[in-house]
Amino acid sequence: MQRFFIFIAIASIVAPVSTLLYAQDDTASNLRIGFSQVGTESDWRTAFTDHIVTEAARRNIELLFIDAENSQENQIAAIRYFIQEGVDAIVLAPVIETGWNAILLEAQQANIPVVIIDRNVTADESLYLTRVSSDFKHEGRLAAAWLAQATAGDCNIVELEGTVGSSAARDRHIGFLEVIQLFPEMRITVSQPGDFRRDNGEQIMEGILNTENPAEICAVWSHNDDMAIGAIEAIKKAGLDPGDDILIVSVDAIPDIFLAMMNGDTNATVELNTNMAGLAFDAIDSYFNGESVPKWIRVPGGLYFPDTAAEEYAKRT
Ligand code: AHR
Repeated sequence: MQRFFIFIAIASIVAPVSTLLYAQDDTASNLRIGFSQVGTESDWRTAFTDHIVTEAARRNIELLFIDAENSQENQIAAIRYFIQEGVDAIVLAPVIETGWNAILLEAQQANIPVVIIDRNVTADESLYLTRVSSDFKHEGRLAAAWLAQATAGDCNIVELEGTVGSSAARDRHIGFLEVIQLFPEMRITVSQPGDFRRDNGEQIMEGILNTENPAEICAVWSHNDDMAIGAIEAIKKAGLDPGDDILIVSVDAIPDIFLAMMNGDTNATVELNTNMAGLAFDAIDSYFNGESVPKWIRVPGGLYFPDTAAEEYAKRT
């Protein structure tokens, strides 16, 4: 309870500051939008926050930004705060998939459209305006297809999973499995959740290298680049050569993973585009203009390899 009050106090401090910082441009919509962000667990996440803040400023949107510190409870409190504030719309990047029906209904009853961004929810589709996101299953399939061809379909795989209960972790796992199941000699031998955090990736990989026979590990499949970078450190500390002794494939395409590629430490990454804010704000504009909005606005992303790493790194920094 105490935590709840502190949280709201922080929120009410953040809101006016956000107004001052972000309302700089008078070219666009003048909307007031509440944004509940997952947290700061990865470089991808902070880049995504930067994009949404910049895009809001460009459109003269007053953005009430609240970082949920990876807690669904905080996100529900944030949405309630946005409703009390009477915002025009809410953008929610949900930590986990389930448990959203009641709060989305509260927003709907207050006539506030909600856009789900990045991760998915299991809630009834009628409770939100649209979802702007990548196809996480497809990301898993792309990673597995690359690994299958790189190993001729013969590989014992360590999987570093993202946040338990998040659609990003669940669907990446499902998509990856769909493909490796086509190859009788490909299997996930160990799978552990690392919450998308770099330090967890290192710690988990260190433990795995102590308990498993490293010579039998062919590859690491990491649900994000940060955990892969942590795993690279652990592999190096164990005296092995990441990217060679143990292949590595991950998701996000953050600058640091391209640096690791340039050093020969990792093999492939699937891009998760950070630039989803424009699509989310366009959908809200369409809603207020009475136009129809599709239930899923899909953000594309491709596979990247060391041959273009230097170029990609330069583009993204
Ligand atoms: O939901 C997307 C995932 O969340 C990203 O892949 C990961 O880096 C982030 O924490």
